[in-house]
Amino acid sequence: MCGIVGYIGKEQVAPILLDGLARLEYRGYDSAGVAVYSQKKQALCVHKAKGRLQVLSDMLRGGAAVDGTVGIGHTRWATHGAPSDVNSHPQVSQSGRIAVVHNGIIENYAELKSFLMSKGVEFTSQTDTEVVAQLIDYFYQGDLLEAVGRVLHRIQGAYALGILCADAPDQLIAVRKDSPLILGYGEGCNFLASDVTAIIKYTRDVVYMEDGELAVLTREGIQCYNHLMQPIEKEISHVDWEIDAAEKGGYEHFMFKEIMEQPEAMRRCIFPRIRDGEVYLEDFGLDESYIRSMSKIYIVACGSSYHVGMVGKYNLERLTRKNVEVSLASEFRYMDPIVDDHTLVIVISQSGETLDTMAALREAKRLGARILSIVNVVGSSIARESDVVLYTWAGPEIAVATTKAYSTQMAVLDLLGLWFARVLGTVEEKEYRSVLEEMLLLPGKMETILANKDNIQYLASQYFNHDSVFFIGRNVDYALGLEGSLKLKEISYIHSEAYASGELKHGTISLIEDGTLVVALGTYSKLFEKAMSNVVEVKSRGADVLALATESHAEEMGKTADAVMTIPDTHDLLLPSLGVVPLQLFAYYVALMRGCDIDKPRNLAKSVTVE
Ligand code: G6P
Repeated sequence: MCGIVGYIGKEQVAPILLDGLARLEYRGYDSAGVAVYSQKKQALCVHKAKGRLQVLSDMLRGGAAVDGTVGIGHTRWATHGAPSDVNSHPQVSQSGRIAVVHNGIIENYAELKSFLMSKGVEFTSQTDTEVVAQLIDYFYQGDLLEAVGRVLHRIQGAYALGILCADAPDQLIAVRKDSPLILGYGEGCNFLASDVTAIIKYTRDVVYMEDGELAVLTREGIQCYNHLMQPIEKEISHVDWEIDAAEKGGYEHFMFKEIMEQPEAMRRCIFPRIRDGEVYLEDFGLDESYIRSMSKIYIVACGSSYHVGMVGKYNLERLTRKNVEVSLASEFRYMDPIVDDHTLVIVISQSGETLDTMAALREAKRLGARILSIVNVVGSSIARESDVVLYTWAGPEIAVATTKAYSTQMAVLDLLGLWFARVLGTVEEKEYRSVLEEMLLLPGKMETILANKDNIQYLASQYFNHDSVFFIGRNVDYALGLEGSLKLKEISYIHSEAYASGELKHGTISLIEDGTLVVALGTYSKLFEKAMSNVVEVKSRGADVLALATESHAEEMGKTADAVMTIPDTHDLLLPSLGVVPLQLFAYYVALMRGCDIDKPRNLAKSVTVE
């Protein structure tokens, strides 16, 4: 949550900051601001505005209204203090000398604020960040680095910070603890940013900062320091994807673009990992004796990544016959989980930065588990702290509602399950081959579904006015329903819930009345008859039923359901990989028809770096 960017160089900084913020808006978008050092005024000029970045950009005429070549910018997802001009970042000290942009939460801000107030410091905002700016100013005696160092000893919590001082305008300071921050190396200029997308237009040479590290950026170079303030050398990584990957490329929304990119993302993710009819997992640090000794597998994640884990439980248990538990990261970290050195913890995260997931990872590590992560963002914190990483290679995902990351996470989990099963001898040769063959067909089958998107758009036009929806299914269809329901509610704001069909009679059915929309998922062939019974059950109570079925069952389903979305047949284990696509499209079109802000749904952010 919150995006930060900073630049020091020779170009006019404001347009660079606004451009970077536009690419970071997915991290938060309730207000934005920039602080630029003006040579003419010999002072910091700070401009902030509540609302989308466009408000600030219009105010600054795209940056032309601000003069200066060093500055910091921020796009906010409010935690402490409601969205407002005054609570927007940069937060500035009382003297106007220190400006700070911050992503994270300063947990002991109240105590520090009382201390500063007792010293006569006056606060203007309700933010925790203002405390950092004021405290740096309080300690500042001509050496910015020293003042920042003193502050870091006193603040607790999570923070990525960009710091600019009017008395030292030839430098920017970057600090990272538990919130992502990268440094970018340009020619005669340098950058700091929450993620690569903000600066890839200018440089592909980046350094991923580690927790506790600090960096001083000047026009000539970057000096990094460890938590003891000792100078350190950091390895520069080269980003190899193109800027187009982070742009809309003619599509109206990132979400739609990313839905349409799924076949290609799946090819990138799957094809290199299946060779000569075998699963091949690159740089794989888990040896076969460890796999055999595993007592259980824990899958830990948040949001849609957790839903992938739910499918994973069914698939991995079926393939490996090992006990698989799935836990929300926010629960896992506080539940005293039964984990030891024979437990494999699979952490799933698109961003690789979700704070709860990260905390769960650390807790599992502390308890002795091996950590295997499935991550999309290369070099992210979760990837770096894991024993083994399998990247999803989905490319940058910008829309808040995840689509291609979900599909590729699932593909990686399936490959992993197959590989484990092969090692454990729990899968028959014939089954193993048939799943692998079907995996290679998934991208093409996704293309078939996407080619029929008009049909789903039509169905969305029939149902977009409903104000309550239930997704029902059994087994993998239940897990898929969780994701379908989340997609719909997060972008269309329609109340929606997912239930295991067998639970209907234990309560939910009382909510079904004339005209309630039920999305009945019936792709899992072994339980198709049961799915049909549940459709009959809700139909007879007046529900409108929109079903999802495979081609071979669509006709049968259509005899009872009001409408059917169809997916090509595939191996049972892979059904959710195809089934999710119509559900994504349905949610997208419903939100479009309801006039919602699809890429930036209210109150949400893509990367959740607060608890
Ligand atoms: C946010 C996003 C979701 C995502 C979840 C977990 O809520 O909006 O799309 O599933 O975070 O994020 P992660 O990056 O850890 O997968």
